[in-house]
Amino acid sequence: MNRNRRPVVAANWKMHKTPEEAAAFWKAFSARLAGEPDRVDVVVCPPYPALPALHEAGMASRGVYLGAQNVHPASRGAFTGEVSMEMLRAVGCTHVIVGHSERRAQFAESDEMVAGKVRAVLDGGMTPILCVGESLAQREAGQAEAVVAGQLAAALEGVAPERASRVVVAYEPVWAIGTGRSAKAADAGDMAAKVRRRLAELAGDTAAGRIRILYGGSVSPDNFSGFLAQSEVDGALVGTASLDPESFFALVALAAAGSAADPARPAEADAGPGVSPDEGVGPAGPRGRGTAQEGDAQ
Ligand code: PGA
Repeated sequence: MNRNRRPVVAANWKMHKTPEEAAAFWKAFSARLAGEPDRVDVVVCPPYPALPALHEAGMASRGVYLGAQNVHPASRGAFTGEVSMEMLRAVGCTHVIVGHSERRAQFAESDEMVAGKVRAVLDGGMTPILCVGESLAQREAGQAEAVVAGQLAAALEGVAPERASRVVVAYEPVWAIGTGRSAKAADAGDMAAKVRRRLAELAGDTAAGRIRILYGGSVSPDNFSGFLAQSEVDGALVGTASLDPESFFALVALAAAGSAADPARPAEADAGPGVSPDEGVGPAGPRGRGTAQEGDAQ
């Protein structure tokens, strides 16, 4: 971690949890979160039908961001099965996962489609969580860095530096996702450093220095500290371990503790969204986790 960047811990629930199950998660998770200082951007990305339940449960007023797992770049039209930015905004979303490897591989999302979605999310004032990462075959062929560099260049083509700084990048080696076999922390840190160098080429040093780079792929409370110890890793995108409120909370607490421990961390970093590159695009409600809000237990 570099404590000049506010850590991000994002839950990607994929196709898991009904609205009732999401509400039960929130009840358990928010109870744990109540005593935590606000040092981490926590994002929960449920399936679409669970978005209203979490929005209405008051996540934003507890400083937790709501995200979608996908979006269509068009504002409306004949796109069966798709949803627009406006629809996501209406149910409280502030973040959108873009270009997850499951969408690239199983739903034929091209680099061009990913780029269109990144632009749509930025145009809509939200934060894209842009996923990049190599397959096992690509890694074994020594192509990992080139693949990731190419994905970044394609996704950020034509994005102005001040907008690019709002992007969150998730480096997720495909072979580590959902396998229980994470990357070695040092390898993830090494790739995160390469990602940041590539971002500097694409968007300049200032933007690259502000962009949060996450590691994703079988992150758990047992291995997260190793990733957080990497200077260029600013958090995690978490699948399996985010489904359980206790393990997801453990990840948030580890990131908060890591953030607090760094002497280089600016004192104002506890102040909330003012120090986040997401400035101005966060939840509308007041931040702060000390008090339970009406509706939390629904
Ligand atoms: P995992 O999923 O934590 O279950 O490996 C990560 C992801 O796909 O974002």
